[in-house]
Amino acid sequence: MSPSILIKNARCVSSQGTVKQDVLIENGKISKLGQIDDKHAEKIIDATHLYLLPGALDPQVHFRDPGLTWKEDLRTGSMAAAAGGVTGFFDMPNTKPSTITVEAMIERKRVAAEKCVVNYNFFIGATNTNLDVLSGVENVPGIKIFMGSSTGDLLVSDTKDLDEIFGNGSRLIAVHAEDDDIINAAAEIYKNSTDFNHHQFVRPPDAALKATTLAVELSIKYQRRLHILHLTTLDEVRYLAIQKSKAPISVEVCPQHFLLSAPYIYEKLGAYAQMNPPLRDMEHGEALWKGLVDGTIDCIATDHAPHTHEEKAKPFGSAPSGMPGVETSLPLMLDRANRGLCKLEDVVKWMCEKPIELYKVKNKGQILPGYDADLVLVDMAKQKTIENGKLMTKVNWSPYNGWKTTGWPVTTIVNGNIVFQDGEIDESIKGTEIQIDH
Ligand code: DOR
Repeated sequence: MSPSILIKNARCVSSQGTVKQDVLIENGKISKLGQIDDKHAEKIIDATHLYLLPGALDPQVHFRDPGLTWKEDLRTGSMAAAAGGVTGFFDMPNTKPSTITVEAMIERKRVAAEKCVVNYNFFIGATNTNLDVLSGVENVPGIKIFMGSSTGDLLVSDTKDLDEIFGNGSRLIAVHAEDDDIINAAAEIYKNSTDFNHHQFVRPPDAALKATTLAVELSIKYQRRLHILHLTTLDEVRYLAIQKSKAPISVEVCPQHFLLSAPYIYEKLGAYAQMNPPLRDMEHGEALWKGLVDGTIDCIATDHAPHTHEEKAKPFGSAPSGMPGVETSLPLMLDRANRGLCKLEDVVKWMCEKPIELYKVKNKGQILPGYDADLVLVDMAKQKTIENGKLMTKVNWSPYNGWKTTGWPVTTIVNGNIVFQDGEIDESIKGTEIQIDH
């Protein structure tokens, strides 16, 4: 049983504004707001200089468990999340074995209940043959389709197969939208290259636009709920600004796609800058940021996809794609708010409220009585440098190594339990399965 906690004088942030008040947490839920007497709680947190946010939900991570746990596992991935103020995550199905059966899903959730210090749920992966599973599996955020090849062997690239998945069932479909034929043709051109900067050309903007267009057309055809993962191009932003309202479509962006830009980043980081879809030049990054601010893009995820130093030491063409991010996404956005590029209320909308709303998560995402006490206290004046070797993620590196940012989570609360405080994780705390309202 979680202790009752009284958070005094917190500036509680929602997309609608910021209100200074006390927050009482009892039995894992927010029980009362206002001016509350100290005698009501077993534990008191003085939050006079802090902001209280609903915990962030990262709707796209790869915690590698099962089968690839030398890179990350549900314990270390969820610890990284907690340290970053992320109280829940949706994990992807490109594990080993892939999460494409009811049995694999049940097993992942069983292991998650033992290992995760924050709340969790998992996408079911689509193949060309598991249509019955996609509708039958219980309580998942959605179906993941890799329309272009990436890490692992999940791929549904044929229009007929995609049409069948979109035309059957009603569950949310999340797409990694890159066209496999364009990628394969481009890969042929660059097959002898040793230059990591060419990664962006192996997976060019038109590969992304073509696949996004197909997914949107299928969503419009069947009025099927579609979520476009990690958008990366100017043309997709323009296209979606017009098409998005024609069907139930939502869109996500990862911070690295507007914070890190080519060619500089490939020169600096080499393989560590390689991910799919790729980091591109500034023109795309600026369009993504604008799309987020104007609402064409709905929310932020990280695509946290760790690979080890050893794996990233391989040459161009052999090194795997993906970079960690779950631990640094909220601090990076708090830093942006501090620098006046957006408001703290926007950060809460993009990282805490919208993912909850888009995926129909039950009872989270608001600081209101009755809601689950998934909360994060942030110190907007705290400065810290992101440093390789000082992170919770198992691979212990970050593409932001050396970045000094201002605004950091100091306390993370999951279901009314303090899981992260003063830089330490309480591993006795366990997260629970995130419930989806279908
Ligand atoms: O860069 C990526 N890495 N993109 C993906 O879609 C998959 C991910 C991974 O699992 O490594």
